[in-house]
Amino acid sequence: TEQKADYRTQIKALLEQKDAVLVAHYYTDPEIQALAEETKGCVADSLEMARFGRDADAQTLIVAGVRFMGETAKILSPEKTVLMPTLEATCSLDLGCPADKFSAFCDQHPDHTVVVYANTSAAVKARADWVVTSSIALEIVEHLDSQGKKILWGPDRHLGAYIEKQTGAQMLMWQGACVVHDEFKARALKALKEQYPDAAILVHPESPANVVDLADAVGSTSQLIKAAQDLPNQHLIVATDKGIFYKMQQAAPGKTFVEAPTGGNGATCRSCAHCPWMAMNGLQAIHEALTDNTGHEIFVDEATRQKALVPLDRMLDFAA
Ligand code: 13P
Ligand code: SF4
Repeated sequence: TEQKADYRTQIKALLEQKDAVLVAHYYTDPEIQALAEETKGCVADSLEMARFGRDADAQTLIVAGVRFMGETAKILSPEKTVLMPTLEATCSLDLGCPADKFSAFCDQHPDHTVVVYANTSAAVKARADWVVTSSIALEIVEHLDSQGKKILWGPDRHLGAYIEKQTGAQMLMWQGACVVHDEFKARALKALKEQYPDAAILVHPESPANVVDLADAVGSTSQLIKAAQDLPNQHLIVATDKGIFYKMQQAAPGKTFVEAPTGGNGATCRSCAHCPWMAMNGLQAIHEALTDNTGHEIFVDEATRQKALVPLDRMLDFAA
């Protein structure tokens, strides 16, 4: 802990020296979120991270999250230096949707509007007509559906199924999933709810449909934090990455949070719901990125960047 205090002090000084800001996701460790709060950075969902990075005056962005978040920041701000604690921090949705295969799928359906989740590589975004995050996905698909557009959706199949159900749109779908949210189990969740009959259930829509069906609130990380604050329930059962508890507790002090079970057969696993790639972000890695860029900087090929910028800007304009 003495070493951690040391890192915190040094990181704060380095952020000032290098004209850098920390842009952190809600799933990163509490100590990273606290550091972003104590400096001029932000802690946010993926939509707000993109917006904050784009609008920040700083010359350098330290993106604490996973790779697609760093790439999005670079696509939107090519003039800024974008660093990540580690470039190894990927996402199972990104891994499961290689650009060449996804592009071939799109080529087979040229009459479809291609809508991709932000959790994808720059090259996949470059093939898309629209990028969406979970905060804005419903509104954008509703808008496209009302215009009579045929939609091809990728890569998260659970989010896709949820959007179809909510909007009535029918989408051709890539079959990707998030390794963290895919593990939530409906049967065990029902059993847990019996232990906390007054609890509200909050679910991120990357979870399986039978888990989403049990929810009192479904939404992006920021929307779930808001629900935790607004709902009258004293107990909240939460089906998303446990990193979110740091902000939820801040937003709704005095309430009790319970992790949704990820094990089957009523067995609960109290610490499974944590993204292994988000977990790679640490104070030491942030310190390292600020001391020496080598191996921490995000680069996006300029032709790809320009193509990926179009659907990203569409989303940000729509959200504005
Ligand atoms: P949000 O956009 O809701 O923050 O989700 C990002 C993510 O990776 C969820 O697993
Ligand atoms: Fe990707 Fe899932 Fe991790 Fe979010 S929690 S970054 S969707 S693997």
